Amino acid sequence: MPPREWNAPSYERVSAPLEAMGRDVLDRLDLTGDERVLDAGCGTGRVTAALVERLPRGEVVAVDGSQAMVDETKARLGDGVEAFAADLVELELERPVDAILSTATFHWIGDHERLFARLHAALKPGGRLVAQCGGAGNVATLLEAIAAVGHPAFAGWDGPWNFATTRETKARLEAAGFRDVWTWPQHVPVAPEDPREYLTTVMLGSHLERLPEHERDDYADAVLAALGPRPTFEYVRLNMLARS
Ligand SMILES: C[S@@+](CC[C@H](N)C(=O)[O-])C[C@H]1O[C@@H](n2cnc3c(N)ncnc32)[C@H](O)[C@@H]1O
Repeated sequence: MPPREWNAPSYERVSAPLEAMGRDVLDRLDLTGDERVLDAGCGTGRVTAALVERLPRGEVVAVDGSQAMVDETKARLGDGVEAFAADLVELELERPVDAILSTATFHWIGDHERLFARLHAALKPGGRLVAQCGGAGNVATLLEAIAAVGHPAFAGWDGPWNFATTRETKARLEAAGFRDVWTWPQHVPVAPEDPREYLTTVMLGSHLERLPEHERDDYADAVLAALGPRPTFEYVRLNMLARS
């Protein structure tokens, strides 16, 4: 499946919790300030902007599968970044990078073998991968709510997410050629300020686009009701550190 479009203005409104997680991941990337770094799945560029601040003499390449997200990143960072739309499983860079940062993106991609091979090819020898995405056990109560509500349009569909385990991810990274691989899980509870907008934009986009437009609001309301009042999403993040 090629990447889908995202509602970038809405993501910009509700994604503060993801920016906070992303900044913590960025803190794991030691930089001298003159490197060339890829943000793989840049979204609206909130974490990319923090990366730009750490590279006063460097270069940032921002890639996302959604043109709307790329446009928002360009509006935020202008000529400060080289931003373009591409599917990460087909990534081709004109010049390799010293490091890759990626936050909250890889679990939207089904083929991690191909993804990691493309990322490895995009890195200079010895380049670093510092990433975090949803891992095994992520947002379990949301998965239960989605199953409880159900919908014929989802019959036979495995859903949009690839919540991999730490062990299989380490093996896949090593098979792609990465070394010094570390993977570990992290529990991060998130109670969004506007649960409905957060749910529809951050969580349910792939579900909603499979439904007729006139059913989407009712479906989102039903999932929200199944989650109960003031829902907290129990994120289980999959962290990755590796070297090419
Ligand atoms: C939850 S957002 C994360 C954005 C940003 N990194 C952050 O932390 O806020 C997930 C992003 O992954 C992008 N994405 C999903 N599948 C992709 C793919 N195959 N190739 C490139 N980008 C993809 C989406 O377009 C979206 O912008």
